[in-house]
Amino acid sequence: MSVTLTYIKHGDTVVDATCGTGQDTVVLARAVGSEGSVYAFDIQKNAHLLTEARLRSHGFNNVHPVMQSFVSMSEHIPEKSAAAVVFNLGYLPGGDHSITTTAAATLEGLGCALRTIRPGGIVTVVMCDGHEEGAEEKKAVLEWAESLAPKRFHVAYVSLLNQKNHPPEILWITKK
Ligand SMILES: C[S@@+](CC[C@H](N)C(=O)[O-])C[C@H]1O[C@@H](n2cnc3c(N)ncnc32)[C@H](O)[C@@H]1O
Repeated sequence: MSVTLTYIKHGDTVVDATCGTGQDTVVLARAVGSEGSVYAFDIQKNAHLLTEARLRSHGFNNVHPVMQSFVSMSEHIPEKSAAAVVFNLGYLPGGDHSITTTAAATLEGLGCALRTIRPGGIVTVVMCDGHEEGAEEKKAVLEWAESLAPKRFHVAYVSLLNQKNHPPEILWITKK
């Protein structure tokens, strides 16, 4: 998240595409401050309840919860307006492992995210291939990212080479 935060300033609009338990949502809410906005997407009611509770305990009221797939991002946020969109792929920690992000939806959501960020903005994708859907999804996301037009986007990929048990991998895409 620390790289992502360097692209965000107070007053910005940002997106947590998969709010889950709300850990990233809180970090984003703090980064944009009371003048800014966070759109927090998740398809699960449980995730929104956890996120709302966490936000309440921190006293943030600058978050708009959206209980829809991140593929609907463009219906809620104008194009080229967000400083950052954050995806943390997989299933809800402590939740139903069968409800997970999928390669098809994630590729569509990433396309939406690239349209939603402003020039100079960033899309962050945290991926984990420790489960079947996650491995397929990571492969699809990396293939997609490699094909992005080099004149329009920079893509960086971080893999924790000496860590065991499928550590998370991170993709950063910035728009020129
Ligand atoms: C790994 S968790 C996110 C963890 C979160 N960043 C946190 O701080 O707890 C992935 C989340 O993505 C959600 N999800 C799955 N498919 C989705 C979709 N199409 N749109 C939005 N959220 C989705 C799941 O319900 C799950 O809560």
